[in-house]
Amino acid sequence: NEIYLHGLGGTKPPFTTDPVRLGESAREVMTPEAYGYVAGGAGSGATMDANRAAFDRWKLVPRMLTDATARTTSATVLGSELPAPVLLAPVGVQSIVHPDAEPATARAAAALGLPMILSTAASHTIEEVAEASGDGPRWFQLYWPSDSDVTASILTRAKKAGYTTLVVTLDTWTLAWRPRDLDSAYLPFLKGEGLATPLSDPAFRALLEKAPEDDMPSAILRWVSLFTGTDHSWNQLPFLREHWDGPIVLKGIQHPDDARRAVDAGMDGIVVSNHGGRQVDGAIGSLEALPPIVSAVGDRIEVLFDSGVRTGADVLKALALGAKAVLVGRPWVYGLGHAGEDGVRHVLRSLLADLDLTLGLTGHRSIGELGPESLQRS
Ligand code: FNR
Repeated sequence: NEIYLHGLGGTKPPFTTDPVRLGESAREVMTPEAYGYVAGGAGSGATMDANRAAFDRWKLVPRMLTDATARTTSATVLGSELPAPVLLAPVGVQSIVHPDAEPATARAAAALGLPMILSTAASHTIEEVAEASGDGPRWFQLYWPSDSDVTASILTRAKKAGYTTLVVTLDTWTLAWRPRDLDSAYLPFLKGEGLATPLSDPAFRALLEKAPEDDMPSAILRWVSLFTGTDHSWNQLPFLREHWDGPIVLKGIQHPDDARRAVDAGMDGIVVSNHGGRQVDGAIGSLEALPPIVSAVGDRIEVLFDSGVRTGADVLKALALGAKAVLVGRPWVYGLGHAGEDGVRHVLRSLLADLDLTLGLTGHRSIGELGPESLQRS
């Protein structure tokens, strides 16, 4: 309503409300390196294209005269009541995109009551971002280090800072071939901007011979060696359970057998995700993976979804195919690049408004009414 009323009063939104043009308009205000970091994917970009193509294959089938004027987008996700089943996907090194970085995103998410999933690779510490989150829901994403003292220390800090749900990213045990980042020589990464959490961690600092301030390059290399090239296996998941009190969610699942293994391992949730096409080039679109996974695991685990969600219709399609909630990545990151906290809020509010309208216009009064019958595959 606010957006329409502003329009009637002649006030334009701060930047486009068009999810398709959002990336292009962000490109005009971001540095080429920052834009490349956000927009880029693995290899030829084929998986990013497949993510969008997968959404295009499903179409919504609207129903009429269903009295959908009074409706709600609210949902319960892993025990948390949310205004909508939409979360901010973990995104590392946000200082590349905007100087206000993660604290700005945390404030925008909290204002809307949506969980921001804080990345291990954040440019601000866990404690700083927790403070910026205020009363907002707090989820933490782990890049799982090979050193168990460092892992335990980071998890203890996250718990103490009030994070309730742990998201463990499995698909980035090494960084993929990402041409855009390679072409900009990974410059922001090499400055160590995404290392606020390890550099402030006593267990990590104990592994270094010198203080990181005295020898930044080797501190960076040490960290990279701890979280890439790790050889974790399914039978190490109990270690995470021992060190975490709340729900644990595995992110990066694409195969039904891996989803079944997550159930067998006693996990609380999975995120069907291909990291926004940033890890494996030439992979299936993430939405293609969703129906077989939902049929494999049923209600035995909460299935969340990401990779390619751009519009309210996209959210509805993923929910109708059995996801309990979606994570959104690049759209709000472009908002951050545009206008910091206000930009993130503008993108998220636009998505929530689009979701609410499309829910009603397709004849649904609540998220729970969505199902396979809401869609047709074409
Ligand atoms: C990511 N993603 C990501 N995932 C994660 O688990 N930890 C991280 O630190 C990051 N960092 C990151 C940076 C940037 C710039 C992007 C775009 C993405 C992946 C992210 O959580 C999510 O899986 C995808 O972004 C979802 O796809 P869309 O919505 O961007 O298409």
